[in-house]
Amino acid sequence: MENYIEKMQKHIHNGRSEEMENRIERLRKYIDEILLNMKDTQERRCGYIHLYGVSQTCAFIALKRNLDFELATMVGMLHDLHSYKAMNTENHAEHGAVWARQILDELSLTTENETDLICSAIRNHSSKATTHSAFDEVLKDADVLQHYLYNPLFPVMEHEKCRLQNLLTEFGIK
Ligand SMILES: [Fe+2]
Repeated sequence: MENYIEKMQKHIHNGRSEEMENRIERLRKYIDEILLNMKDTQERRCGYIHLYGVSQTCAFIALKRNLDFELATMVGMLHDLHSYKAMNTENHAEHGAVWARQILDELSLTTENETDLICSAIRNHSSKATTHSAFDEVLKDADVLQHYLYNPLFPVMEHEKCRLQNLLTEFGIK
């Protein structure tokens, strides 16, 4: 399994191994281990698409808003990990925040403040109708944008319409 992950990362990075030793990659390795060991292939596929889709979208939105894109990338990877692993979405934001803290503590990747920032965003990310901190909003917006970009021909969920419209306007897309 380890070899497979390393091969995949080298492929993605065009073999430039010197750029692979940062905390985003250390977290990715940890998450990949969990996803690759999931028995349900359909759930595993959804996990990969959504977690890494939201992660990239988080980075993009954070860059646009001059926020911490490194932490944004990390929060996207972590935000629904608990739901996919447990295959249960009940109270997933709260459970996800608790588990994210355990992972970040275990890996020692973040300062206390950064861990709080990441866990707050995960805890609040289901409340799409409410506005929280600027960093929390990056995750909520990225979640909505990833749902939309998965297949723009699908109808947009009612509770995501307003947020999506605001995002498209922010990015200059009619
Ligand atoms: Fe999500």
